[in-house]
This record gives sequence, C-alpha cells and structure tokens, in this order.
Amino acid sequence: MRWSFGARVVATVASLVAGVQAADSFSFRDSDTGFLFQQYNAAYKIGTTIAYRVALPSQINATYPVVVQIAAPVEVGWAGLAWGGSMINNPLMACWANGASSTISSRYTVGHSQPPVYTGAQYEIIKAGTYTNRTHWKVTAKCTGCTSYTGASNRAVTLNANGNNRFAFAYSSTKPSNPGSNTTNFPVHEVTNYWNHDFNAAKNPDFSALLEKNGLKGDSN
Ligand code: HEM
Ligand SMILES: *[C@@H]1O[C@H](CO)[C@@H](O)[C@H](O)[C@H]1NC(C)=O
Ligand SMILES: *[C@@H]1O[C@H](CO)[C@@H](O)[C@H](O)[C@H]1NC(C)=O
Ligand SMILES: *[C@@H]1O[C@H](CO)[C@@H](O)[C@H](O)[C@H]1NC(C)=O
Repeated sequence: MRWSFGARVVATVASLVAGVQAADSFSFRDSDTGFLFQQYNAAYKIGTTIAYRVALPSQINATYPVVVQIAAPVEVGWAGLAWGGSMINNPLMACWANGASSTISSRYTVGHSQPPVYTGAQYEIIKAGTYTNRTHWKVTAKCTGCTSYTGASNRAVTLNANGNNRFAFAYSSTKPSNPGSNTTNFPVHEVTNYWNHDFNAAKNPDFSALLEKNGLKGDSN
C-alpha cells in the first residue's frame, strides 16, 4: 500500500511537469543582422517551412520592444504572425515579397475577415535583413507594441519575457494585389497553425548595440 501511494505521488508530479508546455523554437544567429533569435519552422506544406524568429533585449519592462524576422521561400504569397496566438484580438504582422525588397503590414481584427490596419504596433525595418532574392524573401524589424496590447474583453496583455508564448501563423500562396503598399488587401490563408515560442532564450545582452549597428536608434535601458 505504501508503495502504491508513493507511485501515485510520482505520477502526479510527472503530470504537473508535463503541464508546462515545452518550447517548439530553437536558437539561430542571423548573419545578416547579428541578432540571436529563437526560431520556429512553421510547416505550411509537407517538408517546406517558413522561419519565424524573435529576439528580445535582456532588460525587460512593461512595453519591451523585440526584433522579429520572417524568412520564407519565394513561392509564399504572404505569411502572417499572430502575436497572441489567434487571428482575433491581438497584433497581426502580415508580410510578403515586393520586388527586390519585402513588406510588413501591421493589422488587428476582431473577426475572421480582412484585418484592418493597426497603429498600436510600429515596425521599424532593419534593411540588412529585409530583401527578396532568387529563393527567399526575408523581413526584419524592431517592433514596438507587439509584446503588449489590448486583447479580448479589453484585457491588457503582456507577452511573457521569461518563458514561452503561444504564437500562430498563417500562409497563403497568393500575393497581395498591391505588394508595394502595406495597406493593401490580401486573400485569406490556406494554412494556419500554433506553437510555443521561447522568449527567455531569445534575450540579447547586446540588443541596443545591435540595433545601432543596423542603423536604428539604440535602446535606453
Ligand atoms: C496576419 C494575418 C492573419 C493571421 C495571422 C491569421 C490567423 C488565423 C488563425 C490562427 C485562424 C484560426 C482561428 C483562430 O485561431 O483565430 C484563422 C482563421 C480564419 N481566418 Fe485568418 N489570419 C490572418 C488573415 C486573414 C485574412 C486576410 C482573412 C480573410 C481575408 C482571414 C480569414 C479567416 C477566416 C475566415 C478564419 C476562420 C476559418 C477557420 O478557422 O476555419 N484571415 N486565421
Ligand atoms: C506602413 O509603412 C509606414 C512607413 O514605414 C508606417 O509608418 C506605417 O505604420 C505602416 N503601416 C502598416 C499598416 O503597417
Ligand atoms: C537568399 O536568402 C535566404 C534567406 O535569407 C538565404 O538563406 C539564401 O542563402 C539566399 N540565397 C542567395 C543565393 O543569396
Ligand atoms: C522599455 O525598454 C526599452 C528597451 O529595452 C526602451 O526602449 C523603452 O523606452 C522602455 N520603456 C519604458 C516605458 O521604460
């Protein structure tokens, strides 16, 4: 009896540990910009992925900025990131190729339809990581307003800088009608999915210096 009681305790502890979601992301050092990212490879069809990357400062406050990077095969018409892990009630980042460059558009929606422009998040393009070549398009930006926002039922949300955050992505094979404009309409996705992105392992002690190296203003804290 004693033995079986002990076994039950062990089983309970094991299930509590299993309740903590493991991260789906891994470390990646980007040679274009120098940032150390956490990366997730989002499969949009069998054997083919879009890379979603996030880098954080090591000093965190209530409204901390991040650097975000997406790298996709040129066949990807547009790719989206939902910062709160669902289509509705969180900042959306929609991206696509645009000639030799690429475009980021900030959106937010309360319904499952064309997401309107969102001014609560600002993306400052990092040029060295924003281009289209023969095989891929890539976007890189500092985002202010992606990690804190007003969510469903007017709830104030701040993403967890010390653990994992649930993200969602969307993929379409069709380009927006006007790829040079970040306010263009774009067609509905063909694939969406979710993952756990590790923010704690995405911290860069040299975040401010890396911003400056990439032509942006350094951060004060
Ligand atoms: C950055 C852009 C977008 C992202 C990240 C995104 C993400 C998602 C995700 C994750 C879902 C699953 C349900 C949920 O978690 O809320 C979803 C559903 C849906 N989305 Fe989007 N979406 C985007 C843009 C669009 C656009 C442009 C349209 C239409 C023009 C659209 C139409 C829909 C519809 C109709 C559904 C419901 C269908 C279903 O769940 O079966 N979305 N979206
Ligand atoms: C479009 O780009 C401009 C210039 O970079 C920026 O000020 C604006 O916020 C962007 N709009 C969207 C919807 O991303
Ligand atoms: C094109 O860009 C991708 C994404 O950054 C990179 O992995 C690839 O090496 C580049 N290809 C060439 C030919 O430069
Ligand atoms: C939060 O920290 C960032 C740098 O990590 C800085 O740019 C920003 O001004 C800080 N915001 C506040 C409200 O202190």
